[in-house]
Amino acid sequence: MIVPSGPAGDFFVFFCRKKEQHCRLFCNFACRTLTNEPNMRQLLTIGTVLSVLLIFLTGCTRERPRYVIGVSQCSDDIWREKQNAELRMGAYLQGDVELRFAAAFDSDERQVQQIDSLVATGIDLLIVAPNQVQTISPAIDRAYDKGIPVIVFERKTNSQKYTAFISADNYEMGRVMGEYIASQLQGKGRVMEIMGLKGSSPAIERHNGFADALKNYPGIDIVATLQGDWTEESGHEAMKQWLSKEPIANSEKPIDFVFGQNDRMAIGARRAVANSSLYTLHFSLTKYCGIDGLPGEDGGIRLVRDSILDASYIYPTHGDKIIELAIDILDGKPYEKETMMMSALVTRDNARVLLMQDEEIMRQSNYLDQLHQRADSYLQELGTQRIVSWMAVGVIVLLLLTIVLFYRYHLSKVKLQHERVVNTLWNLKPEDIPTPPAVEQTESPKDEAPAEESEEQNDPAATSFFITRFKEAVEARLADSDISVEDLAADMNLSRVQLYRKVKAITGSSPVELLRTARLNRGYQLLLTSDLSISEVAYQVGFTAPSYFTKCFKEEFGMLPGDVKSS
Ligand code: FRU
Repeated sequence: MIVPSGPAGDFFVFFCRKKEQHCRLFCNFACRTLTNEPNMRQLLTIGTVLSVLLIFLTGCTRERPRYVIGVSQCSDDIWREKQNAELRMGAYLQGDVELRFAAAFDSDERQVQQIDSLVATGIDLLIVAPNQVQTISPAIDRAYDKGIPVIVFERKTNSQKYTAFISADNYEMGRVMGEYIASQLQGKGRVMEIMGLKGSSPAIERHNGFADALKNYPGIDIVATLQGDWTEESGHEAMKQWLSKEPIANSEKPIDFVFGQNDRMAIGARRAVANSSLYTLHFSLTKYCGIDGLPGEDGGIRLVRDSILDASYIYPTHGDKIIELAIDILDGKPYEKETMMMSALVTRDNARVLLMQDEEIMRQSNYLDQLHQRADSYLQELGTQRIVSWMAVGVIVLLLLTIVLFYRYHLSKVKLQHERVVNTLWNLKPEDIPTPPAVEQTESPKDEAPAEESEEQNDPAATSFFITRFKEAVEARLADSDISVEDLAADMNLSRVQLYRKVKAITGSSPVELLRTARLNRGYQLLLTSDLSISEVAYQVGFTAPSYFTKCFKEEFGMLPGDVKSS
């Protein structure tokens, strides 16, 4: 899983870890809101939270691999590249193992930081090639003390806090090289050595092996032991410096062999000699040896085959073996605490065969690598498809939820409206009709009886009786679209103005308004309780055009007649 760095990443990890708790909290909130009457804002909040939640949950669905292994490389060069490729292949073959690489580019400080960071990301095991013997130990010890198994490979530390060590025998390589050179010189000659990075265990051990071998040959002079740092440039620089020294320039005797502790430094030294004025004088017959013996274009085996180097020694990378060891440790299987990998000298006699074999192996492993990449891209596609499907499911769920929520919202609106209709004055029982406040009469029109009216208005029984009569008169003529206020007044033995004043005083509305309300209320009830169509209902409540009924209905209730029918 790719986790974003910084605060966003922290939140992501936090959210994923706590997702169950968050889901529960959110579900409680959603259920509580939905079972009450939700308003638009609450619905929108639920919808938004749900969308964000879905996106996060989709992001959290990838499971952690079986094992996460940190690889701390002290450097970055063709030897390490080959090894990293083998580590990747090994992890791929083991299945469900994630490797996290870091390269320190020969810096102690950087490697210490990188180890601490790898540990902080939560690795299950650390594989480390320490740059130097002393300096990296504290970081490795910290990892080990946290209970993380540590495989130290190829270079040593001065600490005992490691789970396993795997390497080739560097002392033996130096010794074999010394023996080889002595035999080539038949025990007599002048040699130089270029050492690898000061303080790194292979440099110390290779030097010891080389020196011990040559002790047996008093006829061989070690003219100089120069300091390099494993890079080609350091071999070049060390040799250039040495060549520039006066006494050597005047020396009569040639150098027979230069032993670079790795092939790259040997090549660097050779380049320095080739560019020097002393080349023909002292170095025209000089031979160069190195260590690493890598396959491939720039590797030592080809250099030996092409007589650029006289000999090399294969320094095995075997990343796949290191992964096997790591998995054994993690699986709790038995394993060797110290493993020494076998190796061999490369000379002109075997370089051609070794190269052929290596080329075949590389061809096969390239082939495997391609298969691996193809499988990876299939898996990635599958993963993307899975995420897309989840998102689609999420969108569908969201859509359904939105529909349900809107439906519920609509129902609650209809219910409210219904209550409003039921509770209108028109539908109230006589005893519930409020008595209007007494109206002070200042001036009375000629055809009215104000005293009588105001008495009636102050008398609740009379008010209720009047309204009941008015309702009966209206309801009896509801279907009649031509009914006028005069007709209603006549039905109640009142003048038009009397009816208007009384109705207005009691209800606050005019008889025409009440007639319209009565028509629409009845229409609402018919829509709710009968199977009549909207047009039939419109005609039944005295509208001549269903479209006009629909318009008035919308004005009165804020919804269409069809909404009432479908609820
Ligand atoms: C690769 C390398 C090799 C050398 C080894 C020593 O980083 O420099 O060339 O043999 O490390 O540890």
